[in-house]
Amino acid sequence: MELIYENSFVTDKEISKLSKAVEDAHNKLVNKTGAGSDFLGWVNLEYDKEEIERLKNAANKIRRDSDYLVVIGIGGSYLGARAVIEALTPSFKTKNVLFAGNNMSPDYINDLLEFVGDRDFSINVISKSGTTTEPAIAFSILKQKLIDKYGKDKARERIYVTTDKEKGVLKREATQEGYETFIVPDNIGGRYSVLTPVGLLPIAVAGVNIDGLMYGASQAMQKYENLLDNEAYTYAILRNVLLKKGKNMEILVNYEPRLHYFSEWWKQLYGESEGKDGKGIFPASVDNTTDLHSLGQYIQEGQRMIFETVIDVENPNKDFKIPVQDDKDLDFLSSKSLNEVNHMAMEGTIKAHVAGNVPNIRIKIEKLDEFNLGWLIYFFEKACGISGYILGVNPFNQPGVEAYKKEMFKLLGKE
Ligand code: PA5
Repeated sequence: MELIYENSFVTDKEISKLSKAVEDAHNKLVNKTGAGSDFLGWVNLEYDKEEIERLKNAANKIRRDSDYLVVIGIGGSYLGARAVIEALTPSFKTKNVLFAGNNMSPDYINDLLEFVGDRDFSINVISKSGTTTEPAIAFSILKQKLIDKYGKDKARERIYVTTDKEKGVLKREATQEGYETFIVPDNIGGRYSVLTPVGLLPIAVAGVNIDGLMYGASQAMQKYENLLDNEAYTYAILRNVLLKKGKNMEILVNYEPRLHYFSEWWKQLYGESEGKDGKGIFPASVDNTTDLHSLGQYIQEGQRMIFETVIDVENPNKDFKIPVQDDKDLDFLSSKSLNEVNHMAMEGTIKAHVAGNVPNIRIKIEKLDEFNLGWLIYFFEKACGISGYILGVNPFNQPGVEAYKKEMFKLLGKE
């Protein structure tokens, strides 16, 4: 992975002004002395071989006895798995992992049930707290469906629970019913949990090589361990310098549709980690070149509060040669590689946006595979922790999420 940025927007002097803040942030993460330090379990990736074996066995059983695994979870309890599965499986391949419990739409549940139809399915309900409303509702509906289809005893064998090791409604039910259960570590919050069973079970069911993913992440962990010469820290610094200069919206840009959900994961990671105490950069995303024909207009000429971070995937899995064009207006495309054209669109857009006062950071990876995805996940997590501490917030809580719940519970008559 390589981090590239235009130093016309951020000078070395501005970067070095933050060096003390970065050192403090680094010490807080390493020594566990900052706000939210109970939630730093993700910093040192742990790979419990026995647990991973049990998880792989569960994934193999699900692949054998089910056409679909319905993953029930919201926020950090589903976005990481979805991001990895979408990025690493072909766009038009019908996925064997479906998602529910991330909204409360009756039509969505109905569509899902109709889609599953008579086929065999299992459920992986994921909730660290075990009490979140959206997954709780989806679980009760889908569990009933399983019981109707297979009977209570057989249904039990198709329910996999990922939750806290001792607390919560879900844990109590799992113990009572004997569901196979995986643990969300106490010291890892939802949005930092993709490399735990939260993400790994669904990812393994989708046929993605979780060892490769973990290997990429562990290599990144070593690379971004030290204070100096650390690109994750440089990214965190650049964001904070740009914010100070009034760039309070960051758009994560991709030129690979398979990365759409990676951006959704990234938005949650940064939005929930930094958006508090009246501070933070608003994280947004675009899928290009699609969105160059929609939001591209705003980015080029709208309010100048934006900077962009582009994920540049150097090589596709397969490239195409564009056929020779008969029309002279299209002749410039003749025999070019599609990847080259896609990259020229990216280079051209970066140039145009930079000229339009939209600073650019580029994160270049060689290709979309397990190794690079694992690496990127760790890179963004580490940068997020550091960035949040530089900003002066607790990057590991999300008190603002409670506000809508309180109002909703009042309206629903919850005591
Ligand atoms: O990052 C977070 O902590 C949140 O987004 C949670 O993942 C989300 O609210 C779901 O919580 P839970 O897993 O407790 O159901």
